[in-house]
Amino acid sequence: MSPPRKLHIKSYGCQMNVYDAQRMVDTLAPEGFVETSSVDDADLVILNTCHIREKASEKVYSELGRLRVAKDEAARAGRQMSIAVAGCVAQAEGAEIIRRAPAVDVVVGPQSYHHLPQLLARAKSHGRAVETEFPVEDKFGFLAAPKPAAIRARGVSSFVTVQEGCDKFCTFCVVPYTRGAEVSRPVAKIVDDVLRLADNGVREITLIGQNVNAYHGEGPEGRTWSLGALLHRLADIPGIARLRYSTSHPRDVDDTLIAAHRDLPALMPFVHLPVQSGSDRILAAMNRKHSADDYRRVIDRFRAVRQDIAFSSDFIVGFPGESEEDFAATLALVRQIGYAGAYSFKYSPRPGTPAADMRETVSAAEMDERLVRLQELIDGQQAAFNLAAIGSTVDVLFERAARNPGQIVGRTAYLQPAHVMASPDIIGQILPVTIASLERYSLLGELSGAVPAPPASARMTDSSHMITGA
Ligand code: 5AD
Ligand code: SF4
Repeated sequence: MSPPRKLHIKSYGCQMNVYDAQRMVDTLAPEGFVETSSVDDADLVILNTCHIREKASEKVYSELGRLRVAKDEAARAGRQMSIAVAGCVAQAEGAEIIRRAPAVDVVVGPQSYHHLPQLLARAKSHGRAVETEFPVEDKFGFLAAPKPAAIRARGVSSFVTVQEGCDKFCTFCVVPYTRGAEVSRPVAKIVDDVLRLADNGVREITLIGQNVNAYHGEGPEGRTWSLGALLHRLADIPGIARLRYSTSHPRDVDDTLIAAHRDLPALMPFVHLPVQSGSDRILAAMNRKHSADDYRRVIDRFRAVRQDIAFSSDFIVGFPGESEEDFAATLALVRQIGYAGAYSFKYSPRPGTPAADMRETVSAAEMDERLVRLQELIDGQQAAFNLAAIGSTVDVLFERAARNPGQIVGRTAYLQPAHVMASPDIIGQILPVTIASLERYSLLGELSGAVPAPPASARMTDSSHMITGA
């Protein structure tokens, strides 16, 4: 048998990329690849790129410059190192990447990761391989052929892709161009994945997609299922104690999703619902297809069925034409909603998007100043939200040993990390923790009562701890 080849994946960006990186590892494992944490001894380096952030392509090219040096050094030592570029920058730039960075062997878009072995073989015989098409029928091909080994246990919590792409075309966003049109996976395949993960001890599933609540997958009876219906089905799977989904669009929140929050204790009361701006003028220029009041009404619908629900959001400051008055409307919305956390970004033009041609740009100084003001407001809300946990007893799903010896870390319903001193036997269980203090973003507490750790074989039976009161 030939020795294993070493694979190093460097991932940037969103959860989808973290998940995709794992899929690439799975696809390449049967080819004899094992992961390495270092570039220097890798036979294959994959840059799994993200196009959302500022100067994303430029950063990829400078990283490729560094990798070329590593590749040359490997060659001098008599080893061949291959370089592949994956992710959204690969999708957007295609063969241009190889023109500008000839050290690259393979350029592969997110729809083609299941072809990686063939692409590597083609690069070997032809020097280069590029695949960034959108083969619609094949979009989820990597999971279409059931490969029991392809979905291995990922610890306690796992992502499952349910849809990809986006049809919304917000004027600032590259996703509809890099990830293509919205496509949903059939219900049966998702159920299959989750059954297998549950069998491997996974307790928490986060359904992911660029516009996850646009989900409209084919159900087993041939009709189309919504995300709410899918969540109801998955909540029935024994062993799955927590369900989450990300990222949602306010326009696609339908009644079945609200009903899922009302009916399913396993559906965590923490929703990432980006609004981007609180100004109707800017929301219209962004082509968000909703007003600030529409967003408020959506939040109210969630709150009406689940009082302990908390929200996070994304914001863009300095979108072309944003006045001080528009920005004030964003601050007002944030004050009114009250977030458990949020991401805020300075607008930066993405070539090829409609907003990139808008002329009324906001000065860098103004953007900086608005970002600071918005982040101060959000940080204050987040700190208050975390502080409110002190003294309460909350359910924590324990995930792994923490860095401090003897400590085990898990997450609350609101994804706050929570640390306790306990035996590693509690990993995989949901247990009530009384929160004593807060250290930066981490809660510190004690297991409430002397809850004996059940044996591993009884791990699926602790559903009495499923609901988190806040
Ligand atoms: N400029 C700034 N922020 C952006 N985002 C997406 N595109 C841009 C852009 N051109 C932000 C949005 C989105 C998040 C993932 O990234 O807030 O919700
Ligand atoms: Fe981009 Fe989200 Fe708008 Fe789709 S809904 S275009 S992914 S910001």
